[in-house]
Amino acid sequence: MADYDESRLTVVDHPLVQHKLSILRDKRTSTKDFRELVTELAILEGYEALRDLPLEDVEVETPLEKMTGKKISGKKLAIIPILRAGLGMVDGILTLVPSARVGHVGMYRDPETHEPVAYYHKFPPYLESRTCVVVDPMLATGGSLTACIQFLREAGAKDIRCLTIVSCPEGVKAVLDFDPDVRLYTCVVDRQLNERAYILPGLGDAGDRIYGTR
Ligand code: PRP
Ligand code: URA
Repeated sequence: MADYDESRLTVVDHPLVQHKLSILRDKRTSTKDFRELVTELAILEGYEALRDLPLEDVEVETPLEKMTGKKISGKKLAIIPILRAGLGMVDGILTLVPSARVGHVGMYRDPETHEPVAYYHKFPPYLESRTCVVVDPMLATGGSLTACIQFLREAGAKDIRCLTIVSCPEGVKAVLDFDPDVRLYTCVVDRQLNERAYILPGLGDAGDRIYGTR
């Protein structure tokens, strides 16, 4: 039994997601394919995470008659990638919501302590009225994501949805315990962290694999 609030965690385990995830994990997958798969997974996950966006009526005239359709209401969504690896998911969400605004949180994990070191953040205005979609492929200790959530709360964000691709129980618990309202989406919750705070079985270092650095 998980010791976190499972109602705020959605595991997006569509067959297409599971198929792409297996290719993503494979150490032989090229940088180009890895990057494309991260984008595709972000699209599939984003589709699920945005299924309850608020709608309003809109008048449409088809070639045959007038009708009342729907469009998404409210201020434009804000996508918040955690640099670097989170950048790999931005285009996928922008494919779904091309008019979204994009904020950035610059952060890296100290290799010794595994604590996040924040070096930059900039957000679009009126965060309190926007759905904020935080993207980062990996949720390990949860340090980076909780720090990002804190920046967003301090900036006034109310509706925060976090999208990761691979998570682990330690990170899920850390994030859901840290913020009682945040919603978390992931493609899989893996077994555990190793002694270097890498996810097992995981996929290695997502940033290095997206950008071909090592
Ligand atoms: C990775 C990953 C997350 C973080 C997860 O980034 O993209 O941001 O680690 O670890 P945590 O849950 O223990 O905080 P990393 O710090 O390696 O930076 P990078 O994206 O620049 O490679
Ligand atoms: N960051 C990664 O990129 N991979 C992990 O397994 C943990 C943190």
